[in-house]
Amino acid sequence: VNIHDLPTPALVADADALEHNLATMAAALPGPRLRPHVKAHKCTSLARLQLERGHTNFTCATPREVIGMARAGLGEDLLLANQSLDADRLAAMAALDGARVTVAVDSDATVVAAAGAGIREVLVDVNVGMPRCGCDPDDAGRIADLARQRGMEVRGVMGYEGHVVGVESHEARVAMTEDCMQRLLVAHDKVGGDVVSAGGTGTYAINTWANEIQAGSYVLGDTKYVALEGLPFVEGLSVWATVIHANDDWAVADAGLKALAMDHDNPPLDGHEVWFYSDEHVTFGSPGGRPAVGDRVRVRPAHIDPTIAKHDVMHVVRGEEVIDTWEVDLRGW
Ligand SMILES: Cc1ncc(COP(=O)(O)O)c(C=O)c1O
Repeated sequence: VNIHDLPTPALVADADALEHNLATMAAALPGPRLRPHVKAHKCTSLARLQLERGHTNFTCATPREVIGMARAGLGEDLLLANQSLDADRLAAMAALDGARVTVAVDSDATVVAAAGAGIREVLVDVNVGMPRCGCDPDDAGRIADLARQRGMEVRGVMGYEGHVVGVESHEARVAMTEDCMQRLLVAHDKVGGDVVSAGGTGTYAINTWANEIQAGSYVLGDTKYVALEGLPFVEGLSVWATVIHANDDWAVADAGLKALAMDHDNPPLDGHEVWFYSDEHVTFGSPGGRPAVGDRVRVRPAHIDPTIAKHDVMHVVRGEEVIDTWEVDLRGW
C-alpha cells in the first residue's frame, strides 16, 4: 500500500525516524535506565520494539495501559505513575497474572485504596515543583510508613519535573532539574527503597539524580520537542489529510481538532500556511500555488501523545510504502 492510498485523516509513523530515536535513546539510557512511558504512543507493538532495545520496565498513565501491557506479555515491571482511587481498576491491576505492577501513591486515601484493592507494591509520588500530583517531600516518609503498615512494599520514590521538560534553554533546564531532584532526594532519604524515578524527553540526559527516566515522547518527537536546544530526536509522526475544497483564496483538508492535539498551538502544514482548525477541517493558504481537490497534505503534530490517542491505528511507512499498521490498543482508561 502507498501512503497516499490510506484513508484520511491517517496517522503515520516514519520507520527510519522511529529507528533513529529508539537507537539514540537506548545508547544514552540503556536497559532499565529508561522506563519508557507508554502513554506517548499507547501501542503495544511499539512498546515491543522498546523491549527489543533492552527496556524491560515501562511507565503507564492509566490502568488501561497497565492492563493492556500485561496482557500483551510486556508486564515484567509496570509502573502506574499516577494516582487512582478506582477500586475496580486497582483490583484488576492487582489480579494480573505474571505481571509486576507498582502504583504511585501520594496521600492517605491513595494508599488505602491501593492496599484495599490488593496492590502489592507502591512508589511514593513527590511534588518536585509542578502543580499536579505528588506529596510534599516532608510528608513522603509518613506516607511510606502508612503503605508499609498496610502491608505493601515501598519501592522508592518518583517525582516528575513536568514544568521543566519543555523549557527552551538547556542551561535553565539543567538548573531547574537539579532543584527538583534535590526535593526528590530529600524525600527518598525518608522513604528508602531502590527506585528514584523521574524525567522526561526534555531532561533525559540532564537528570542524573534519578536512577530511571520516564521519557516517552522521544520515540516519535513532535514540533515542540525537536525545537528544544540539545535534543537529538527527530520528528517521526505525521497526520496526512486530503484536500476536500480549494478556491482562489484558501483550501481545506480533512484533518481537524478531532484528529490532532491543539494544546501546543496549531500543528503546521508542510508547504502551506494554517489559517485555523475546526472539528474535521483545517483551512489554509497556499502562497506557493493553489492545491487541487484530492491532493494530499501533511500535518506535523505539535504534541504526539494526545494526537495518537485520537486514532485507532498508526501506519508505519518507509518512504511512501506502508510497511505495517499497528492498533493503538492502549487507548481509554
Ligand atoms: C509522570 C510522567 N513521567 C514522564 C513523562 C515524560 O514524558 P515525555 O517524554 O513526553 O516528556 C510524563 C509526561 O507527561 C509524565 O506525566
